[in-house]
Order: sequence, then structure tokens, then C-alpha cells
Amino acid sequence: MKHTFEKANVLITGGLGFIGSNLAIRLVELGAQVTLVDNMLPRQGGNLFNIDPIKDRVHINFSDIRNELSMNYLVREKDYIFHLAGQVNHVDSMRNPLKDLDINCRGTLVLLEACQHMNPDTRVIFAGTRGEYGKSVRLPVDEEHPTNPVGVYAVTNLTAEKMVLVYHRVKGLDGVCLRITNTYGPRHQMMHDEYGVLNWFIRKALDNDTIPVFGDGKILRDFLFIDDLVEALLKTAATPGAYGDIYNVGSGKGVSFQELAAIIEALAGRGNVRHTPFTQERKEVEPGDYIANIAKLSKATGWTPTVPLSEGIARTLDFYRKYGAHYWKL
Ligand SMILES: NC(=O)c1ccc[n+]([C@@H]2O[C@H](COP(=O)([O-])OP(=O)(O)OC[C@H]3O[C@@H](n4cnc5c(N)ncnc54)[C@H](O)[C@@H]3O)[C@@H](O)[C@H]2O)c1
Repeated sequence: MKHTFEKANVLITGGLGFIGSNLAIRLVELGAQVTLVDNMLPRQGGNLFNIDPIKDRVHINFSDIRNELSMNYLVREKDYIFHLAGQVNHVDSMRNPLKDLDINCRGTLVLLEACQHMNPDTRVIFAGTRGEYGKSVRLPVDEEHPTNPVGVYAVTNLTAEKMVLVYHRVKGLDGVCLRITNTYGPRHQMMHDEYGVLNWFIRKALDNDTIPVFGDGKILRDFLFIDDLVEALLKTAATPGAYGDIYNVGSGKGVSFQELAAIIEALAGRGNVRHTPFTQERKEVEPGDYIANIAKLSKATGWTPTVPLSEGIARTLDFYRKYGAHYWKL
């Protein structure tokens, strides 16, 4: 892995956000030449502080993935394109579905068209969501599980995923799709609670505030630490045989919201767990229990998660204790 990305020319869409910036930092460490494109969509994770450790070693382009001229230019000469730009707010996808559709579907198509015309030899790694499965009919969820998304965000992700696979199959553009579980860690937005529940619990604990657990708190989720996701993205990108397919990324373990809140409260030594009824908006997009079956990705790439939940939470708490001021304000 160490040398695979040395001198590789890499584009990250959504590169100033949570996943994009953590990936960029790792790629710079590995010797890659990294370009980030981001439109700083309001209320999402784009934050210049995210790339503070590498700010003089990356190119930043403030543009929108829906801008054909920008994308035609930016995809040129790139060996890998990690496609992480998206409308990621589940709640907002129900309030503003056309915006979600436009960014997640049209934006992905603009990118794919740009690749096909300007750089057909590039490789596209798409970050989809476990939300594409919807309500689980069995656990753990493998890639053969039915897809019945419960919200617009998950529908547009599923559609974008299928477009990446069509371009792979029909147009010969290498593409691979990940269905990513709830991921947490340093550099996630901490301004509001509309996405990124674990990070929100951490904020509430650090503020010594109420940590709100919806309903009875028994719903199970699979939480993955960001460094493990970054490694999964890199290993997938570097595995030629992985392209043309979809893979789950998760920890493979389930934890209830109630247990999660208690772990965070204990590790932070602050905060106060309290149960609260679901809001109607939340209820509508809540798919219930989820645990990823990660055997397919492990077999294809050799990747396995390495950071236990308590360690990941402790590392996240440390990060925001130091740098919270860059993340707290809206
Ligand atoms: N974080 C998770 O738990 C998780 C889970 C599953 C899937 N994903 C997917 O991973 C990707 C990255 O998510 P994240 O957690 O880093 O979110 P994020 O909000 O931190 O980052 C997304 C970035 O994309 C940018 N962006 C949005 N629309 C854009 C556009 N039209 N043009 C250019 N940039 C645009 C935003 O400004 C932001 O910086 C998303 O596609 C998301 O759906 C994330």
C-alpha cells in the first residue's frame, strides 16, 4: 500500500468535507499529488480548517461538480478520482428533494461524462451509503440484500451508484462503489444534528449538555472510525479486480444508540444521556437496525477495520477538545 499512491495524481470531489479531507491528508502522506474540488455547500462539512496540516501541499478548486467546464478541466490527467461530493443531509433531502437529486444524480453524471470524454483511463471510486438498503430484512446485511431506500438521499445515492456501474460496464470507465456505514471521527461537521449522529453525541458531551437518544435507544447501528474508512477507500482504489462492483464498508459490529451514548458519556466524563421521542421528520427516514457484512470487501482487498469503538471515540474527543472552536459555529 505504501508506494501505490506515490506520485499518483488524485482528484477528490467534496475534498474539504469530513471524508475527503481525512483521505487527502493520508494521500499526501503517501506522496500523492492531490487536488480537491468543493463548493462549500452551506450546512455541510466543507471546512478549510480540515486540511490545515496539508494546506500548502494540495490544490484547491472551489467549484461545483455540476459545472461541466470545471469538471472537464479537473478530471484531466488524474489517476484516481474519489467521488465524495454530495448532498449528504438525510433530513434536508426530504425538504429539498430537487436539490438532492440535482447534486447527487446530475452532479455524478457530469463527473462521469467529463471522465469519459477527457480522461477515460481514470478510475472512479464512489462513496455510496448503507442507506441504499433501507430497512434490514436480515442481519448482518450483505450486498445481495434488497435495496428499498426509505429517504430521497438514499434513493439518489443508489441511482448514482448504478450510473457509475453503467459507465463501467457500457462505456469502459473503471468505477467501483462503496456502501458506507455511519462513519465518525475528526473533521466531521459539528454545527447541527441533521447528519452524523455519533459526532453530534460527542459535541453534546463536550458541551456538558443532554445527549439525546431517540425512542428506547435499542436500534442497532454499525459505526466505523474514519481512519478505517480511509484505508478501505485506498485499498479498494488500489485493487484492479475490485472495479465494476459494490462493497459494504462497516465495522461489522452493531451497537445500540443507548449503549453508544453511555460509552461517550463515560469517556468524555461529561454530558447527560436522556431519551426523547422521535420527531416525525426523523421517524420517516429511520431504517432501523443495521450491521454490515464486510466479508466481500475483506476478501477482495484484504481490508479489515482496526480501530475499536472506544478508541475511535477517545481519539475523536481529543481532536474536538483541541480544535472544537473551528467546528462549533454554524
Ligand atoms: N459520513 C458518513 O457517515 C457517510 C456514510 C455513507 C456515505 N457517505 C457519503 O460520503 C460522501 C462524503 O460525505 P462526508 O461525510 O464527508 O460529508 P461532508 O458534508 O463532510 O462532505 C461533503 C462535501 O461535499 C461538498 N459538496 C456538496 N455538494 C457539492 C457540489 N455540488 N460540488 C462540489 N462539492 C460539493 C460539500 O461542500 C462538503 O464539503 C457523501 O457522498 C456521503 O453521501 C458518508
